[in-house]
Amino acid sequence: MESDTSPSFNRPAPQTLDLLLSRRSGSAKTMTGPGPSPEELETILRAAARVPDHGKLFPWRFIVIEGEARARLGTVLVECLRQTENVSEERAKIEAARFLRAPAIVCVVSRVREAIPIPEWEQQLSAGAVCQTMLIAATALGYVANWLTEWCAYHPLVRERLGLKSGERIAGFVYIGKSTAPLEERPRPDLEKIVTRF
Ligand SMILES: Cc1cc2nc3c(=O)[nH]c(=O)nc-3n(C[C@H](O)[C@H](O)[C@H](O)COP(=O)(O)O)c2cc1C
Repeated sequence: MESDTSPSFNRPAPQTLDLLLSRRSGSAKTMTGPGPSPEELETILRAAARVPDHGKLFPWRFIVIEGEARARLGTVLVECLRQTENVSEERAKIEAARFLRAPAIVCVVSRVREAIPIPEWEQQLSAGAVCQTMLIAATALGYVANWLTEWCAYHPLVRERLGLKSGERIAGFVYIGKSTAPLEERPRPDLEKIVTRF
């Protein structure tokens, strides 16, 4: 158990705030290598596995997709699509290369336990926190990251081929890499429009 020597114990962390106030996603389309080293990836996953989680259920798990597995999963995408629709050569090429856009991808799987006092909604929220924490940790390590679902997160055959069980859903594919282009800011909500006081 962490004691009060933990750096987050009543101590300001201005660098973290700088990152949170300036962070944005880097598009998977403009990513390149190198990806995180094994140690860096472990740091990202450890940070993600510390998110708040009502009931200590760990209602998520991670599937790491790196190296040749990216092309293998691309082949799976094409196979799955072909079972349900006609796939043009052009589309097949795009799908085969989908996971080659970044050097590392983490599939965050939300695994909800039913019929327990912790609401399913809260378990799903925790999976969302995992994805966001991965973005932050990857950014803090000098990478860009992109939280995407795209069609493949929702295709039952893809979920099956990724080994998802009943009650498991894909919260996102977190793409991690280096950016080939500067990140442009995008509009952020005006706080006056979203904050009220009770
Ligand atoms: C659950 C979830 C799924 C998303 N899926 C997609 C997606 O499939 N395609 C896409 O272009 N953006 C998707 N996004 C949006 C991007 O991850 C990201 O929010 C957007 O590019 C702006 O990011 P930023 O505010 O971190 O800069 C998704 C976001 C969330 C929260």
